[in-house]
Amino acid sequence: MTNEEVIKWLGEVVHPAKENKSMVELGMVESVVLDGNKVTVTLAFPKRRDPLTEYLVGSARATLIRHAPGSEVEVKTVIKEDEKTARKSVLDLGLEELNNVRHIIGIASGKGGVGKSTVAVNLAVALARLGYKVGLADADVYGPSVPLMTDTEGERPLALVEDDREIIEPVEKYGVKWMSIGYFADPGQALIWRGPMASNALKQMVLQVRWGTLDFLLVDMPPGTGDIHLTLVQDVPMEGAIIVTTPQQVALADVEKSVNMFRNKNIDRKIFGLVENMAWFTPEELPENKYYLFGKNGGERMAKRYGIPLLGQIPIVQSIREGGDYGEPAALSTRPDGQAFLDLARALADTVER
Ligand SMILES: Nc1ncnc2c1ncn2[C@@H]1O[C@H](COP(=O)(O)OP(=O)(O)OP(=O)(O)O)[C@@H](O)[C@H]1O
Ligand SMILES: [Mg+2]
Repeated sequence: MTNEEVIKWLGEVVHPAKENKSMVELGMVESVVLDGNKVTVTLAFPKRRDPLTEYLVGSARATLIRHAPGSEVEVKTVIKEDEKTARKSVLDLGLEELNNVRHIIGIASGKGGVGKSTVAVNLAVALARLGYKVGLADADVYGPSVPLMTDTEGERPLALVEDDREIIEPVEKYGVKWMSIGYFADPGQALIWRGPMASNALKQMVLQVRWGTLDFLLVDMPPGTGDIHLTLVQDVPMEGAIIVTTPQQVALADVEKSVNMFRNKNIDRKIFGLVENMAWFTPEELPENKYYLFGKNGGERMAKRYGIPLLGQIPIVQSIREGGDYGEPAALSTRPDGQAFLDLARALADTVER
């Protein structure tokens, strides 16, 4: 039994008084906790007591037992103050908070671990150093890395309620506005939600934040090209994306998937360019030396092949990794690695403004 399956099953339980919409669609599933053979589901109800509470709790329990015979099922309820507020904040997010944001750019990669978050965080800092107003939304709801990479792990953003809507204040540091689901979870806590819950969470990280006036809002997308990406790209008015890759041949197929996703006719977003991360290795003590561990010019070849510009190349250097681990992005420094991010930021700004 997985979280995904439990949510799928709960999707079969409809609310007879709400146009037969499922409890999942109605945003009633507050949490699913799996512990060995036991599943605990919490359903949210409005303060005004829903006369169908018993019915819905019973149906949820029966459905889960039917799909997972032999498991221990517990269905709890919580009361959400006002149904309208609760639903509005998750399901009916408007685009108001993005009214004064000029460019929304996704940072994507076909596969994990290529340095997407590192590039996103440093690019945000570098754009701010160039004088732009910048925000970064960490939409990687499974593995948020912005709090660690910016040393803002202890921050707890404020939520304001305005006209029935809940708006979250971003965290500000290094001249950038940051938002991440990581601010709402304990560090190291595994975020195991799936499907609709994950999509809602990541939409909130972009749409429910008081961004104010920005030149660039970068969105650090989760790795891959699955359903969650489609939701993100469809529901967030993203202008385009940059794709982060490493120079290996094996990365090629993954880049192709990303390119196809953004060029899909239902999505149809610009690809501003490719960033080749870990393009070469430079030892700290021999800054002039370049070792092409993953092969040379892989990024250039890929860019040519797909007809997209190569926006920049970032070397592997220890200080970039350390900057990420200590929360002091390399882009703040005057070292060559800091310079590489500034060059990348300039190239992106030029391409986007053109
Ligand atoms: N250019 C670089 N030089 C040195 N270390 C790097 C570089 N780029 C990324 N790293 C390190 O590689 C690791 C993975 O990077 P990062 O978390 O940015 O990847 P990601 O693509 O966002 O991963 P995920 O798919 O898990 O979201 C981190 O420890 C990071 O510090
Ligand atoms: Mg990441």
